[in-house]
Amino acid sequence: MLNNQNIVRHTHEVTKKQRAVIKNQKPCILWFTGLSGSGKSTIANAVEVELNRLHKHTYLLDGDNIRLGINKSLSFSDDDRVENIRRIGEVSKLFVDSGMIVLSAFISPFIKDRQIAKDLVAADEFIEIFVDTPIEICEKRDPKGLYKKARNGTIPNFTGISSPYQKPINANIIVNTDNNSIENIVQIIILYLEKGNYLNA
Ligand code: ADX
Repeated sequence: MLNNQNIVRHTHEVTKKQRAVIKNQKPCILWFTGLSGSGKSTIANAVEVELNRLHKHTYLLDGDNIRLGINKSLSFSDDDRVENIRRIGEVSKLFVDSGMIVLSAFISPFIKDRQIAKDLVAADEFIEIFVDTPIEICEKRDPKGLYKKARNGTIPNFTGISSPYQKPINANIIVNTDNNSIENIVQIIILYLEKGNYLNA
């Protein structure tokens, strides 16, 4: 354990509320969870396009990209996935503090870790979106050829095959890209944000 007893938190003059008001929005995390190939990144990307069109200030944190950068030292062992999500939770919180609407798209397979990320912000600042596409469909799509590699044993600890995925119990929004179009799903999410007054300050 690192010793942080000599670290003192600063308070800054400009508040989260002030940062959000000039962006005319209520900051939050749209947390997309689901299997690899379920459509998390595709949906998050399409939602960000629509929010950008509405002049909302957003940022998209995406599993593969983050693992090529800030988290490139992490593997897919259970411990490293926990650390991956811990860091993403903290980074997402910083974005919320800066007044942004942040879209975080990660498998985030463990309920406990998603709860830890949720507990970092206020209850209404964390919107959990379960991309509930069945594994058979994800595996059939196999956009990166990873399921094939997982099946023949080239990739160890692959989520849904040789590593667990714990479904959310109380997701705010549940979508399935197998029986719904990306356009419809975007509308469902935007409507949720409108009803919750996230799209004005
Ligand atoms: S998480 O489990 O730690 O939340 P994350 O969302 O960051 O995963 O990364 C998932 C992406 O990494 C997948 O979309 C896939 O492209 C790639 N990947 C590589 N190896 C694995 C693996 N063993 N299990 C799951 N995804 C993997």
